[in-house]
Amino acid sequence: MARIWPIGGGKGGSGKSLFVAGLGSYLAKAGKQTLMVDADLGGANLHTVIGIPHPARTVSAFINRQVHTLEETIIETGHPNLFLISGARDSLEIANLPYAQKLRLLRAIYKLPYQYILLDLGAGASFNTLDFFLLSNSGIFVSTPEPTSIENTYHFVRSAYIRKIRQVLKQKQLCALHRHTDAPCKSPAAFVDMLRQEVPERAGSVEKALNAFRFKLVLNQFRQHDDARLGLQICKVCEKHLGLQMQFLGNIRFDDRVHYAVCQKVSFVDKYPYTQAALDLRAISQTILEMENDQAKARPKEVGASP
Ligand SMILES: Nc1ncnc2c1ncn2[C@@H]1O[C@H](COP(=O)(O)OP(=O)(O)OP(=O)(O)O)[C@@H](O)[C@H]1O
Ligand SMILES: [Mg+2]
Repeated sequence: MARIWPIGGGKGGSGKSLFVAGLGSYLAKAGKQTLMVDADLGGANLHTVIGIPHPARTVSAFINRQVHTLEETIIETGHPNLFLISGARDSLEIANLPYAQKLRLLRAIYKLPYQYILLDLGAGASFNTLDFFLLSNSGIFVSTPEPTSIENTYHFVRSAYIRKIRQVLKQKQLCALHRHTDAPCKSPAAFVDMLRQEVPERAGSVEKALNAFRFKLVLNQFRQHDDARLGLQICKVCEKHLGLQMQFLGNIRFDDRVHYAVCQKVSFVDKYPYTQAALDLRAISQTILEMENDQAKARPKEVGASP
């Protein structure tokens, strides 16, 4: 089964698509069968970032049932081992995806036969975006060092954990918690304590689901004057206030050539492989892959990840 890495973060323009393109390119060069899925509901543009201005097929064909399987929407990128499912052309149709359609798409992604699947998510923390993010426990957040971006990322993390609780608990059990109006806003540990008293039969499942999260953070568009300790500090804040462990993977330098590459509709890491930003992307990708290799042998089955 594929390892799925959703790439999210609350704020638009932080560099999620750039990161997916860079990580995808690195994994493919390392010989891994990699699929990038543009799951930016309503603002699909990953194809342009990787240098395919006019994809022949998009996920729309699957949503509209013009094809039977999601695999039929996969296109080649021109690079060995690297494939793409391009985002919907008609953004309205996917941004407002009905629940049953979303579930069909999530289930289909989950079954795709690749070693790695990278999900490029849109900005914001809508239910649809969160459900794509929660397709796996290994979500990666891409933020910039700006306070607005960090704030949105923190909000996204919190929303993801509340959404997960809702996925694990049944409606009846959620109603039992209604008199605790701030219930899901407590830290995961405090929330599980409360569950033990109110709905003891589900406390274990919720705790297991929350403990299975393996979130990671990347800071992009990092400038010289920015504080190099910021990433670690953000992870500590998440741990302190949400009780969730988050691992900092590193900074990616700001480089005007990212803008040039996007304007030329070419892949940044292919066009400018020896810039500091491309080297940062490579180093982070390498770290992720090494961590994966280390964990692969000991990894337990992901809790509640199957949609
Ligand atoms: N490291 C960087 N250095 C300089 N500019 C960057 C860098 N990363 C991203 N950018 C700029 O930010 C723009 C947005 O990047 P990208 O499309 O990857 O963000 P995004 O998070 O996917 O946005 P959206 O939320 O709209 O999907 C790029 O087109 C580029 O101009
Ligand atoms: Mg994007």
